[in-house]
Amino acid sequence: MTTLEAPVTSDVATLTIDGQTWELPIIEGSEGERAIDVSTLRGDTGLITLDLGYANTGSTLSDITFIDGEAGILRYRGYPIEELAEHSSFLETAYLLLYGDLPTKDQLNYFEERITNHTLLHEDIRHMYRAFPLAAHPMAVSAAVVGALSTFYPDSVDPLDREQVEISTYRLIAKLPTICAVAFKYAMGHPFNYPRNDLSYAENMLYMMFGLPTEEYEVNDTFTRAVETLLILHADHEQNCSTSTMRMVGSSRANIYASASAAIMALWGPLHGGANQAVIEMLHDIAENEGSARVFMDKAKDSNDTTRLMGFGHRVYKNFDPRARILKDHAHKVMDQLGESGRLLEIAMELEELALNDDYFVARQLYPNVDFYSGIIYESLGIPTNGFTPFFALGRMPGWLAHWREHHFDPRNKLNRPRQIYTGETLRSYVPIGERGG
Ligand code: ACO
Repeated sequence: MTTLEAPVTSDVATLTIDGQTWELPIIEGSEGERAIDVSTLRGDTGLITLDLGYANTGSTLSDITFIDGEAGILRYRGYPIEELAEHSSFLETAYLLLYGDLPTKDQLNYFEERITNHTLLHEDIRHMYRAFPLAAHPMAVSAAVVGALSTFYPDSVDPLDREQVEISTYRLIAKLPTICAVAFKYAMGHPFNYPRNDLSYAENMLYMMFGLPTEEYEVNDTFTRAVETLLILHADHEQNCSTSTMRMVGSSRANIYASASAAIMALWGPLHGGANQAVIEMLHDIAENEGSARVFMDKAKDSNDTTRLMGFGHRVYKNFDPRARILKDHAHKVMDQLGESGRLLEIAMELEELALNDDYFVARQLYPNVDFYSGIIYESLGIPTNGFTPFFALGRMPGWLAHWREHHFDPRNKLNRPRQIYTGETLRSYVPIGERGG
């Protein structure tokens, strides 16, 4: 369980405004990250801080995930992502994120049992899918269905009741694969598959997406491990856009289903989770139209062109994203298993090689991020392009929930409400429409 100690140091930052001086405490995290605590700044000085995009702003203290973007380090609850990707399962990693420590065998069995008990959807939820156009993006459908869970489980929407939060936690992790798979099957015109509780989390997801009543479903270990690894790598990434959304919405005491629905919507954007779809579209574009990675690179570097090398660059990583290294290896394994030449993988590696030796990308510290190789794996498994980001959402759900719980279980947290510097018109009087010029 979280401790969330406020780590004040003996150092202070001194701020001088109009000849008057204030001292601001400096706090230090367990990995030596330092921050100036400005919590009392407005009360003391009447001034606020301005930080577009929050690039220098810590919104919370958190015990969950540590990132050192300069060194390319990612750890969940102290465990390196490389070790978890190699040895852990997705549900074990979810337990770690939620409760702070790796589970014992009994704890893991209990947790897995709780999750598999909640994989079914209320039968009436299926009617919702018919209200959407066939071409609806599964992120929009999934966010709507996740939000609607609050109407099916009104007995467990109190954010301050730990038992209700616990059961909602199980439900969200358990039901999201079913919710996304039904959206996928509906768009394909295929019959829906009920979840199979004898399969692992990743196997069940693949079965629900690809199983057909007319034939036996065969589990493929390489594919399952690739998906399991993708889910583990995506499980948390501290205060990213969707997790901050989860905390922001939850801070109003909106229920956990409403908060998760908003987080799914935030993840959808192409500058965040939607980048995995954008990467594969870019690779196809290069393969089919441009014919050359270099032409595309030149467009990405041109300040008069809005093209970006998708899957490159990260707000926090200024070095190789450690998740991209792991996924590159799995992309090769999946290709070997399929016995395919992997044209898209070749283009991706060519782009990576060009970028890592190009002054533009080197100077801006732009390296492959987690989405650069994930889309290649998804596509190789037969997942349609608009199904990539829902997989990201499945992976991120335990992280969202861990952060939401951390926020609610820490009495120091309050409504998240940033301020602004107003730059619009100053006071003016209403002019009747007939008297306005132009
Ligand atoms: N291709 C080309 N140029 C880029 C790229 C890119 N992928 N990313 C950043 N740059 C350039 C910018 O044009 C800017 O150049 P300038 O200084 O000459 O103006 C400079 O690098 C800094 O870019 P910012 O946008 O200020 O950096 P920021 O930290 O805000 O952006 C982001 C990070 C949004 C991820 C960006 O790198 C990007 O758009 N990447 C492509 C989309 C992507 O892959 N998103 C997934 C991120 S991972 C995730 O969310 C799971």
